Order: sequence, then structure tokens, then C-alpha cells
Amino acid sequence: MVVNLSKHYSLLSDWISEIRNVDVQNDRMRFRRNLERIGEVAAYEISRTLPFEQVETQTPLGTSNSKLLQYQPVLATILRAGMPLHAGLLNYFDKADNAFISAYRKHHPDGSFEISMEYISCPDLEDRILIIADPMLATGASLVKTIQFLREEGKPREIHIVCAIACTVGIEYVHRSEPNVKIWCGAIDEELTAKGYIVPGLGDAGDLAFGSK
Ligand code: URA
Repeated sequence: MVVNLSKHYSLLSDWISEIRNVDVQNDRMRFRRNLERIGEVAAYEISRTLPFEQVETQTPLGTSNSKLLQYQPVLATILRAGMPLHAGLLNYFDKADNAFISAYRKHHPDGSFEISMEYISCPDLEDRILIIADPMLATGASLVKTIQFLREEGKPREIHIVCAIACTVGIEYVHRSEPNVKIWCGAIDEELTAKGYIVPGLGDAGDLAFGSK
């Protein structure tokens, strides 16, 4: 399943437009904050699909029947570009556990690249709701590798992927390997360059958020 969060016009379209815009991208703080806001909207939309339980809450004047999120999710970030999106998810899922994974592209001289995974910090994922933040779903290769890597920490009850911009090829690739994951994205682009960059996309999200390497 894929949900395009900007299918219906909302402020999200403004933020997506700003993170793409070369005249605004040089404001690094604004770039990070916009990704964070996209993470916040995604967190809210995902929460609408999760189970809630009824509890009685004591107020100063009586009791109220309230609904509370039944299971706290695990928020996972692919370092480093996923960090602002992760911050937005954590603003809303503020009791969540967190996982961090390093996955990066090792480029070869012939233009090809492989995904290298080097670091993982993760709670037990058995039966947990796992939400993975990755701003740019391009080829989908790093996401699929990340999910395979994370599965060694337990079998999640459901997996959600949150991205700012997703490419159709990447969405298809992820769904071929992981048919049950739900992808939540701010926008869907059609093209991918030979080097695996999304077109029109926005450029390199990690560099724009944190500076070039
Ligand atoms: N990662 C990025 O930062 N940008 C892309 O276009 C693809 C992957």
C-alpha cells in the first residue's frame, strides 16, 4: 500500500515545494524543519490506522472515557538523512522506542553503487509496529536492505515507511521484496537518474540538511 500524503491539497504541499526549491534549500534550518513537519503529518496519518484502547481518565471534576494508543511504535532512522523526518515522527509518537541504522551508498568508479550497512542500535522488534524514516525513496535498495537487517532484531507486527519524496521505481522495488509494508510519502516522482537520484526530486537530502561530506 502506498499513501501519497499530498494527494489532497494541504500545507504539506507548501513544505514539499520548499524542500525542492533551489532558492529556499540554502536555508538549512528551514530544510530540516520542513522535513520534520512532513514527519509530523505522517505520524498523525499513521496514528489514524493504529489500534487504540479505552481507558478511564480522572479529571479534576470527574472521569472521562479516553482512548490511548495501544502499542508504542519503534521509530527507525537511516542515518544521516532520515534524522529530521525522525524528529518529526518522535514529536508526535513521543513515547516511542527508537532505532538507528547506518546505510550508505558506496559508489564505484563505473557509476554503480552498493549499499553498505555498518551500524545498528535497535530494541527487540518482535511484534512491534515499526516505522522507518527515509526522506528519499529512490531505488529502494537501501530500504529493502535495512528492513532485512532489522528483521534480525525480531518480527515486527507491521512495517511503515515514511519518506518525503518517493520514486515509482523504488516503490515497486520495495513492494516486490516486502509486499506488506505501507509506504507514506509526501510526493511521488517518476524519474530516477543512472546514479540513483530522483528527478525532479530535490538533490541530496543528507547534504541539504547537514552539509556536504
Ligand atoms: N537520496 C537523496 O538524497 N536524493 C535522491 O534523489 C536519492 C537518494
